[in-house]
Amino acid sequence: MKQQLEAIKSTAIAAIGECDSLAQIDEMRVKYLGKKGELTALLKQMGKLDPAERPIMGQLVNEAKAGLETLIGERSAVIKKNETALKLKEETIDITMPGKAHKTGKLHPLNTVLNDMIDIFQSMGFDVVDGPEVETDYYNFEALNVPADHPARDMQDTFYLGENLLLRTQTSAAQIRTMENRKPPIRIICPGRVFRADEVDATHSPVFHQIEGLVVDKGVTMCDLKGVLEQFAHEIYGKDTKVKFRPSFFPFTEPSVEVDVSCSECGGKGCRVCKGSGWIEILGAGMVHPKVLASCGIDPEVYSGFAFGIGLDRLTTTRYKISDIRLLFENDKRFLDQF
Ligand code: DAH
Repeated sequence: MKQQLEAIKSTAIAAIGECDSLAQIDEMRVKYLGKKGELTALLKQMGKLDPAERPIMGQLVNEAKAGLETLIGERSAVIKKNETALKLKEETIDITMPGKAHKTGKLHPLNTVLNDMIDIFQSMGFDVVDGPEVETDYYNFEALNVPADHPARDMQDTFYLGENLLLRTQTSAAQIRTMENRKPPIRIICPGRVFRADEVDATHSPVFHQIEGLVVDKGVTMCDLKGVLEQFAHEIYGKDTKVKFRPSFFPFTEPSVEVDVSCSECGGKGCRVCKGSGWIEILGAGMVHPKVLASCGIDPEVYSGFAFGIGLDRLTTTRYKISDIRLLFENDKRFLDQF
């Protein structure tokens, strides 16, 4: 029995020494020390021994058990340490590797210019309002004093969606909606897309952008209109820019003007951008027609106002020296990446 014990001990010591995973160690524990393990089996055979030898043998087996227990504990500690070292090695991050750059989007040039314009008008106390792109004949034309036989209503200019429904041809429709919903004092701008059945070329697009402006209060005069629009032109084009007011006609304003600024490219000498004239037309404006005020329930005897409509696309093409308006709408990445 003593020899048997020695044999079990030496195979166990060798086997434990070869274990290199915790699962194998567990197997060893079951195999030698478990309830059905080899040492336990040996203990059960003690009955066969001479009573005098039993305590001696018992002690030897128990010593062997304790010895293997310690060995198993030590081996598992080594295995755990190795496994941690391996894991750390595998999970190492090389912080010297070059990073992956994430491409961020940027604003379309139209949005950059629009944001600048919104900043300028907001600093002068204007609110920004929104209006629908699908309008009724009433808001787009009739309430703006554009009579039924006005050429602007022609099928060739306007995209009609039905007898009374159309794609707005001007953001001026927002004037009417605002005056119906707000009481003076009113100071708003309304930026947005407008639509006209134009042939596409370098300066025309069936979709383009306007910023409508409207001010209504007691005692508003043409001087206020000039002051606001001059201030706007100076902020957008620079302090030295000259601003010219030309008499013009719009059905919804009286008197009406068109506003030109000195060409920022040539300073007014005449060049390709201003087609040799030295001036660039940027907007239409005027004093709100008394009929328009009255149709919105605002008494023209008490209140007066001015309105303007700025072409955003022209402002953008002149600022960035873009030669063809179509580039603004084609979304060619090679073009857009330049801004
Ligand atoms: N709606 C005009 C256009 O599309 C521009 C305009 C002119 C707007 C005079 C106005 C204005 O508000 O007062 O050509």
